[in-house]
This record gives sequence, C-alpha cells and structure tokens, in this order.
Amino acid sequence: MKVIVTGGAGFIGSALIRYLIKECGCTVLNLDKLTYAGNLDNLKEVDADERYSFVQCDICDAEKVAQIFNDFAPDTIMHLAAESHVDRSIDAPLEFVRTNVMGTANLLHCALNYYSQLPEEKKEQFRFQHISTDEVYGSLGKDGYFTESTPYDPRSPYSASKASSDHMVRAWGHTFKLPVLLSNCSNNYGPYHFPEKLIPLIILNALDGKPLPIYGKGDNVRDWLFVEDHARALWLINRKGVPGETYNIGGNSERTNLEVVEECCKILDELVPKAESYSKQITFVSDRPGHDLRYAIDASKLKRDLGWEPQITFSEGLRATVKWYLDNSWWWKPIREKNYAGERLGKGK
Ligand code: NAD
Ligand code: DAU
Repeated sequence: MKVIVTGGAGFIGSALIRYLIKECGCTVLNLDKLTYAGNLDNLKEVDADERYSFVQCDICDAEKVAQIFNDFAPDTIMHLAAESHVDRSIDAPLEFVRTNVMGTANLLHCALNYYSQLPEEKKEQFRFQHISTDEVYGSLGKDGYFTESTPYDPRSPYSASKASSDHMVRAWGHTFKLPVLLSNCSNNYGPYHFPEKLIPLIILNALDGKPLPIYGKGDNVRDWLFVEDHARALWLINRKGVPGETYNIGGNSERTNLEVVEECCKILDELVPKAESYSKQITFVSDRPGHDLRYAIDASKLKRDLGWEPQITFSEGLRATVKWYLDNSWWWKPIREKNYAGERLGKGK
C-alpha cells in the first residue's frame, strides 16, 4: 500500500509512520510543513528505509498538494496535519482556522480530483482518513461518555477548528461520495511528544528542577492513550473501517491532571531519586481560559466492529514514556534550548 501521511513529522504522525514502515510493509510519503511541532528527528528509526520519503509542503498549498497526489499516486491518505495545541489556539487562533479548516478543505478538494480519475479497482481501496479529537464533543460532567452520536459542542478555537474540519470531511463524503473515514481520539502520550503538552512538560521541568505547573485545581480529567495503540487503531480503521463511518478511540484510562503529575513524580522518584520528591515542585497556576472539565471516550464501537482495544495500560505506558525521555535527551535538549523552553502558553487576554 502506498500511503500519504500528512503531519507525519509530528507526535502521532511519526508514530504512525514508524508503525506503517516497520510493521505493515507500507510505502509512505510524509507530507509536512515542518512547523514548530514538526521534527524529522522523530523519523530517524525509519528514514533510511527506501519505502519512506518526505516532502515539505503546506496542506493549504493547492498546486503543490495536487502535484504530490499525481506524482506519488497514493492508495490511501491519512490526514493528521494540524495545529494541535489548545493553549496556542488561545494565543493565535487564526492559524488554527487556516490550517485545520482551510487546509483540510484544500486536501479534500485535491483528493477528490485525484480520486475521480482513478480506475474502478483503485477507487475501491482509496480512503480519505481524517484524524480528529474527542474535544469536538465538548466537556462532560462527572458521569457519561462521548459516543459517535454525541452532538458536537466545541469550546476552544482548537476544538472548533477540528469540529469544522470534521464537518468538511463528512460533506465531501456525502456530497461527492469521496470514501471518507473519521476517528475521534482522546489524549495521546508517549515518545517524541513535543514538550509543550502536559506529560513531557512535567517530566522535563521535573528533571530541570523547575515548577510543575498545574492549571486550576488539577481536577480536570483526561482519558489517556499510549500513542502506539492509537497508530494501530488508525491503520485498522483505514483498512477495515466502513467508508462514511466515525470511530471513537480511547484509552479507558481516566485520570485527573493532578493524578497524572503525581504518577510522573513517583516514577521519577524511583528512577532518578534526589533528596526531595519531585512532587515538591508541583505548583498550582491560573486556569486555562474555558478549560474543559472532563473528556471520556466510549470506544465500544471500535471494539465491537473491528476488534481493537488498547494493549498498553496507563502505568506501563507512563513508565515507558518517562524512561524514553531519560534515555533520549539528544531528542529533547535541542527543542528545550532552541524552540520551546517550557514557558506558560495560553493564559488569555
Ligand atoms: P503535532 O502538533 O505533534 O503535529 C502536527 C504536525 O502537523 C506537525 O508535524 C506539523 O509540522 C504539521 N503541520 C502543521 N500545520 C501544517 C500545515 N499547514 N501543512 C502541513 N503540515 C502541517 O500533533 P499531534 O499531537 O501529532 O496530532 C496529530 C493529529 O491528531 C492532529 O490532527 C490532532 O488534532 C489529532 N489528535 C491529537 C491528539 C493528541 O493527544 N495529541 C488526540 C486526538 C487527536
Ligand atoms: O483530547 C485530545 C486532545 O488532547 C488533542 O486533541 C490535542 O491535540 C492534545 O493537545 C490534547 O489536548 P489537551 O489540552 O488535553 O492537552 P494538554 O497536554 O495541553 O493538557 C492536558 C491537560 O493538562 C489539560 O487539562 C490542561 C492541563 N495542563 C496542561 C499543561 C500544558 C496543565 O495543568 N498544565 C500544563 O502546563
């Protein structure tokens, strides 16, 4: 299979490419603009493979994207390129609208032109797969879960832009019969996670002796999924999912933010002990504006229809992640020194 992965230099896209190259025998073209979040070091494990190639491209660039479709002639496309950080969407929302909404619409437009001229047998296997988030469903109270039929209620510029991109994808599927697939996933964590997001930020600040910032009271709840479990789900959906359908993906691992941070500290206390526990560095800071209280995914459709379940528990995955950061300072030191040193983002006006 020849697969275009957009956003393949990011956190989840690179995990997906490593999986497709190492375990699925695919030939992959990574289409990525290389924003601050894109890093080709994420692909060092596979970039020498002749089945892997990279092209630097903005998904909003209609001419270049059309050229890539024609030159590479993909059997399927998996679309992950996006602005992905809620805090940055509070600081600079318009870039989220440009990339996530306009960029997705442009990609759909180019994909449809390409798909329309494919012979029938190629059309049958082609998919436009859109990777989305549980945040489109809004915020839960203490009970309940998001299902595929939960009404959309996005509440940050990030989630609103992702909700909008989901609507675009469904519109192209319905109106033009482009074979689209969607999935909405909960919070991912694991190796190569850019250190502006909670778990890597906490690990690296802890090692640097810096404060461990917890927004508000730390009682917001997220459902955590190890990134390699997500990559497996995505390829399964691509090959076995029914066009037009949406699949929720989740980790069955709900934790408050305070619990997550305390668990990181416990693992660090064990692996790199020092006089005082790392938990002494925990600092409560002002809350994220519009902070969603709780996300929780009901992933029973994916289990029932395609047989997917997460394989890695949160405690196994978190320990593996902490160890990965301890062993791979070559990856994060240049990021912390040159790109992002851990400063607070998204405080609002
Ligand atoms: P990321 O920020 O780590 O990576 C995004 C990638 O997209 C980067 O490599 C960046 O260079 C690229 N990109 C950004 N704008 C682009 C543009 N205009 N053209 C081409 N490339 C561009 O994001 P991630 O965490 O890997 O998330 C990947 C996808 O999964 C996103 O669509 C996100 O909404 C979705 N998602 C993420 C999570 C999560 O927990 N991280 C959960 C559910 C869904
Ligand atoms: O739910 C899926 C989403 O998960 C994805 O769609 C997004 O792309 C991804 O970034 C993630 O969004 P979150 O906002 O949940 O992730 P983040 O790591 O930024 O924050 C996780 C929680 O931790 C959230 O409740 C805010 C809180 N937080 C975050 C940071 C960076 C803190 O308390 N302190 C922090 O310093």
